[in-house]
Amino acid sequence: MDFKQIISHCKEYGFIFQSSEIYDGLSAAYDYGPNGVELKNNIKAYWWKSMVQMHQNIVGLDSAILMHPKTWKASGHVDAFNDPLVDNKDSKKRYRADVLIEDYMAKIEGKINKDVEKAKKKFDNFDEKMFRETNGRVKERQDKIDAIAKRLGKAMTDGNMEDLKAQIEEYEIACPDSGSKNWTDVRQFNLMFSTQLGNVAGSEGKIYLRPETAQGIFVNFLNVQKSTRKKLPFGIAQIGKAFRNEIVARQFIFRMREFEQMEMQFFIEPGTEMKWFEYWKNTRLNWHKAIGTPDNKLRFHDHDNLAHYANAATDIEFEFPFGFKELEGIHSRTDFDLKSHQELSGKKLQYFDPVKNENYVPYVLETSIGVDRMFLSQLSNALQVETVPDADGNESTRTVLKLHPSIAPVKCAILPLVKNKEELTKAAKDVFDKLKFSFNCQYDEKDAIGRRYRRQDAIGTPFCITIDFETLEDNTVTIRDRDSLQQERISIEDLKSKVFEKTDMSSLF
Ligand code: GAP
Repeated sequence: MDFKQIISHCKEYGFIFQSSEIYDGLSAAYDYGPNGVELKNNIKAYWWKSMVQMHQNIVGLDSAILMHPKTWKASGHVDAFNDPLVDNKDSKKRYRADVLIEDYMAKIEGKINKDVEKAKKKFDNFDEKMFRETNGRVKERQDKIDAIAKRLGKAMTDGNMEDLKAQIEEYEIACPDSGSKNWTDVRQFNLMFSTQLGNVAGSEGKIYLRPETAQGIFVNFLNVQKSTRKKLPFGIAQIGKAFRNEIVARQFIFRMREFEQMEMQFFIEPGTEMKWFEYWKNTRLNWHKAIGTPDNKLRFHDHDNLAHYANAATDIEFEFPFGFKELEGIHSRTDFDLKSHQELSGKKLQYFDPVKNENYVPYVLETSIGVDRMFLSQLSNALQVETVPDADGNESTRTVLKLHPSIAPVKCAILPLVKNKEELTKAAKDVFDKLKFSFNCQYDEKDAIGRRYRRQDAIGTPFCITIDFETLEDNTVTIRDRDSLQQERISIEDLKSKVFEKTDMSSLF
């Protein structure tokens, strides 16, 4: 399904709405509807269980969004959490300079792909790899992309705004809105949202909405370690909102100004970070695979240009409808954060190692994933249009959301065969009341049964349970499987275990 169809499906079926839509919306802010909030909560539960419940040495935390402003000085966010911004003087539109250059590279890539497609049609036994390596025009374009990527990477790492402007001019990049090439200089734009404390006037009272949840973990490192008596290696996990004043906020919930993160800081002995880096890379990749994300839609992207605090970093990228993009980051953050907080606060953030009989500042291995990006990855992977036989054996199409049953918003729908027979609706409501303590169920009596099945398919409900006249005689129901479409007649007594077997999350661990 293309991206536009995914977005409209999200709205039509109550997964995601634009924030403040009646006022024409607020860009890059979204609300999760009745089905969206269930899916989101299930994703968070999957992460929380796999991190906290499954690891003796990982504990949870829920720290405040508002923190002392010095936190962000120590973490480097006040000085270095910037994006390069450029305005077009004619259209008055604002862009990220690096994104303009990346889009320019994507255009060249598009031309290469066109050449490849043309050649594919022309030659039998077409060898794409060989074609890319030997075709003069394709090679020249690929070399150009590589050179631009290298220069862009260096300008970004060095914070060289002049070179970014020079590149925009050299490549003759035009404003996508107006076509004008009349650009301002490129300047740094801090991505943190600031606000004011009620009881402190002026700059003293300036505080920030956290741009990452991680710092709440760092500043609580000793509180947690002492109160839980954890020994290294141990981790602290947290799920919570983060805020970034993104200049280019697009691609739906992929890049938002208010979003949610699931982060885990794993505190380790210095010198062991590469071992743990590999461990968490594998563990996190397997977490994605276990929920059903196909291998070919996931890949690692190791960072060449490392952030100031990291000595190794990789992204787990997912193939979103707009290409492979970062879904999760795994960073070896050294002792940068704890040491910076120690210096600025004047409070020791050290661990006493009883084996070595010495104090030191631990190193940190971080795993960080956006809830919203995980949501988008699951939804875009699961949403399909299929041809299936209808009740009369004819072919018909259905839109089905093949989410892993454990994260589906609704686990089973309870459907009386017809709505105006009180015996049936009463029996169906009794089944609903029996199952509602164990699962999120939906009772639906409107429209013909086929249409009700389709509605449940579209929101990913693994089971539809139909109550018919036979039910009244022998306490059995039909249960329809979303994926196989098989219908089975089973006793009401067996429903709970049947639904549980397929939707229980523990099968994923
Ligand atoms: N503590 C490390 C950190 O925040 P990051 O790579 O900036 O690292 C981690 O962010 C994850 O948070 C990303 O992999 C992505 O899933 C999510 N994320 C970051 N910015 C986002 C945004 N503007 N909208 C939605 N998700 C975002």
